[in-house]
Amino acid sequence: MQARSAETTDTNNKQQETMRLPSRRRGMRRLALVVPMLLVQPAQAVPAGAGEPALPRVVEREGRHALLVDGAPFLVLGGQAHNSSNYPAALPKVWAALEDAHANTLAIPVAWEQLEPSEGRFDFSYVDTLVAQAREHGKRLVLLWFGTWKNTGPAYTPEWVKFDNGRFPRMRDKDGQASYCLSPFGEATLAADKAAFVALMRHIRKIDAGKRTVIMVQVENEVGTYGLVRDYGARAEAAFRQRVPAAVLARQPAPAGHPAQGSWGEVYGGYAEQYFHSWAIASYIEEIAKAGRAEYDLPMFVNNALREPGQPGQAATAWRGDFASGGPTWDVIGIYKAAAPHIDFAAPDIYMPESGKVSAVLAGFQRPDNALMVAEMGNAAGYARYVYQIVGKGALGVVPFGIDYASYSNYPLGSRYTDRRMVEPFAQVYATFAPMSRLWARWAFEGRTHGVAEGDDRMPQTVAMDGWKATVSFREFQFGERRYLRDKSEYAEGTELPGGGVAIAQIGPGEFVLVGQRARVKLAPSADAPAMYARVEEGRFDAAGKWVMERNWNGDQTDYGLNLPAAPTVLKVRMRTYEH
Ligand code: DGJ
Repeated sequence: MQARSAETTDTNNKQQETMRLPSRRRGMRRLALVVPMLLVQPAQAVPAGAGEPALPRVVEREGRHALLVDGAPFLVLGGQAHNSSNYPAALPKVWAALEDAHANTLAIPVAWEQLEPSEGRFDFSYVDTLVAQAREHGKRLVLLWFGTWKNTGPAYTPEWVKFDNGRFPRMRDKDGQASYCLSPFGEATLAADKAAFVALMRHIRKIDAGKRTVIMVQVENEVGTYGLVRDYGARAEAAFRQRVPAAVLARQPAPAGHPAQGSWGEVYGGYAEQYFHSWAIASYIEEIAKAGRAEYDLPMFVNNALREPGQPGQAATAWRGDFASGGPTWDVIGIYKAAAPHIDFAAPDIYMPESGKVSAVLAGFQRPDNALMVAEMGNAAGYARYVYQIVGKGALGVVPFGIDYASYSNYPLGSRYTDRRMVEPFAQVYATFAPMSRLWARWAFEGRTHGVAEGDDRMPQTVAMDGWKATVSFREFQFGERRYLRDKSEYAEGTELPGGGVAIAQIGPGEFVLVGQRARVKLAPSADAPAMYARVEEGRFDAAGKWVMERNWNGDQTDYGLNLPAAPTVLKVRMRTYEH
């Protein structure tokens, strides 16, 4: 799994022009000069044809990532449809929710069972309708290939696959008993899945290369196996006795005290079975992704049903039946990188509402070799604040699950509502980012952005920036300090549950764009120096990236920090130091 390196092209200069920051002071210019050009050449085969927009790409520079769409960084403000909304009749309720959410991208399944109901006969009617309607709604698409594995199981395989386990074998346990899960060593299964996926990618290229409505493809869905650490069938056993491939060793070295080379058991000891299964599934996915990209070279990724996030600096425990073995969990991302170079990144599906866990998951999946994108997230209101943290961390995007007015709620994983009440918390945040999303994606790629979400502990958080720091506190009243309160148990209305968040872009040496809600931000130089606000403009960026000022905050509105209200607000702030 590797992101492509950013390269300069001439055509890029034009794009840079249109995305130029609105105000360019001297110091700002110094910063801007070190910002390299962003466009890339497609790194693999299939160049864009004449008149076609550039192929979407995931690019990496200095350990940061961007998703380029039409040649420029793009921020996915996404929504995922429910599993069974992958039929034309279900789409109106999906689009209605997406529109209300101000989302720019829909993630939605394409199921093998609907694409190839009988072997070799393909039905693209749903895909055609979906792509046409996405264009009408001005949305991009992330297609989710529900093939051999969907939440580890074969439910979305066509009937001719699902029940023919002579030809399409299930995994076997040590006693030879069949698991529910299809084996990654099923040669015919791989060939059949690959053929269907190739047909899909060829078709998408045919209908969409001129528009790039489809910007990414997820290969399979939440792979791995519950209850069985690996396949013990004959082919799997033979492979398990082989030496660990050098590419895997390079990415996932042996634990301390183990030989650096040898068989899976020798090198990885108690981790061997999970690592081997991860390698087997990743290798299977690689075959599918590689063949699909040879047809149409879109960015591809895998998503992950999380295991408990790790503690910083601590090794993962060996599999104990506590998560889906073989999935791209944070501890085996290296194995996926080695085995699946045609997969751009592994993405977390976050259904852990606790703020500490969310932070740990984001840290585990954001690596110099792995772009962060939250492929799924709960759609309950408490998750909306994490959008600030995710977007501020420079993720390619975020996709809450179930942004869809189908009469179905996956509570308690997500919201109990299926109407506007479910969409609203995300809609407010997305609406604020939407007009400036291209600008934000560029700032993120340049390493200028930071994000925090209110923690479950409700405590203040500090953000270190270039020469400056921000202290973000929550549950504050807008006027005065906590110590002024007669009743210290009093808190601002509407803050009973954590709901605050701030994303900050440092667009110049002392210049910041703050986007946030329900939070107080105090900016100060990192070194001990007196500073004041020069300007605190409230306003918005328009779609052309131009700042539109609505008013300047001063007096009570700045005396006690920048108090972002319940409704998401954008501030453009300039700070200056002065002599003692
Ligand atoms: C994660 C899966 O990837 C989704 O398809 C869905 O099943 C959710 N879990 C639960 O609603």
